[in-house]
Amino acid sequence: MSFADANIDSNDVVLVTGGAGYIGSHACKALAQAGYTPVVFDNLVYGHRWAVRWGPLEVGDIADRERIDQVIRRYRPAAVMHFAAFTYVGESVTDPGKYYRNNVAGTLTLLEAMHDHEIRRMIFSSTCAIYGMPQQIPMTESHPQTPINPYGASKLMIERILEDFAAAHDLRSVSLRYFNAAGADPEAEVGELHDPETHLVPLVLDAAAGRRSAITIFGDDYDTPDGTCVRDYIHVTDLAQAHVLALRALESGAGSTAYNLGNGKGFSVREVIDCARRVSGREIPVEMGARRPGDPARLVGDASRAIAELGWSPAYADLDQIVATAWAWHQSPRGSAPGKQTAGPTQVS
Ligand SMILES: NC(=O)c1ccc[n+]([C@@H]2O[C@H](COP(=O)([O-])OP(=O)(O)OC[C@H]3O[C@@H](n4cnc5c(N)ncnc54)[C@H](O)[C@@H]3O)[C@@H](O)[C@H]2O)c1
Repeated sequence: MSFADANIDSNDVVLVTGGAGYIGSHACKALAQAGYTPVVFDNLVYGHRWAVRWGPLEVGDIADRERIDQVIRRYRPAAVMHFAAFTYVGESVTDPGKYYRNNVAGTLTLLEAMHDHEIRRMIFSSTCAIYGMPQQIPMTESHPQTPINPYGASKLMIERILEDFAAAHDLRSVSLRYFNAAGADPEAEVGELHDPETHLVPLVLDAAAGRRSAITIFGDDYDTPDGTCVRDYIHVTDLAQAHVLALRALESGAGSTAYNLGNGKGFSVREVIDCARRVSGREIPVEMGARRPGDPARLVGDASRAIAELGWSPAYADLDQIVATAWAWHQSPRGSAPGKQTAGPTQVS
């Protein structure tokens, strides 16, 4: 049965840009479980066709206004969840134009299309990188916003643009500022598969699985209990759930806002490695490397506003649950796909 024949109420259709990627694919599953129809709009530069399982895939680029118009006319979505972006912090420093063009200019094209088609709800993938170096821990939404790389700056610019579109056009949005997304769908239907991979949990599990020879710890002389960097890991299924709740809030008339999404607990690089050893039962060889510029000792978010105002209740808050779901995915045929490149850990995107 084609989408057109399926008699779907367009009020339940959500356009999911970047829905073939890691977090977007999990959000599609959560949307489908909540009764929505996710229509994925992704150029597949980093996304995977196989990760689109809960609605149609429309291949296209957010910079391509004609293509966006076509897809919007076809499905008449009532809301947009906007995950599409480039996300490599290091690359954003060496090639900032690429990040401002894709993330900022691309989003502007998307927003103008939304405005012209009278779509007035957006859930936006923002990031703790908009805050820059932490001035207090845990970081609340009122933390100063001084990003230290073009990736974070591009996301902050989009938040500002969203504020202006809300004021001028009543296009209401919720910006969700994630800390470190980790883990995988507990049924292992989708999971994390970045290429290149820069996130700590999959890199550690690659070492556990023997797909890389060792994991490098960049600095063990930080002012933290075991000397290694502390980060806030939030399960991707919990993130996905927050997106559905944020959408419901907009549907109920809530105004534009932004929320931190983190688990409020920090875990050190060594704790993550120890947890992965425990969960996988494998040896994980470790190498010591020098500190990397721009890596703060601790990055931990305060998500109490999302918990209080959205009724969000993270279900996979334990590090063991996060790593165990990621490990199960890592051992599935898709999650252990060959040919993955790997790079250094602990970058926050
Ligand atoms: N992974 C994290 O820990 C994390 C943390 C904070 C914020 N975020 C944000 O969450 C979002 C999703 O991150 P992810 O880890 O799932 O990344 P991802 O690379 O897996 O997914 C991004 C998707 O967007 C698509 N895309 C990129 N540019 C596009 C364009 N111009 N047009 C259409 N599609 C395009 C890619 O093909 C990919 O499928 C991003 O916006 C990212 O900045 C991620």
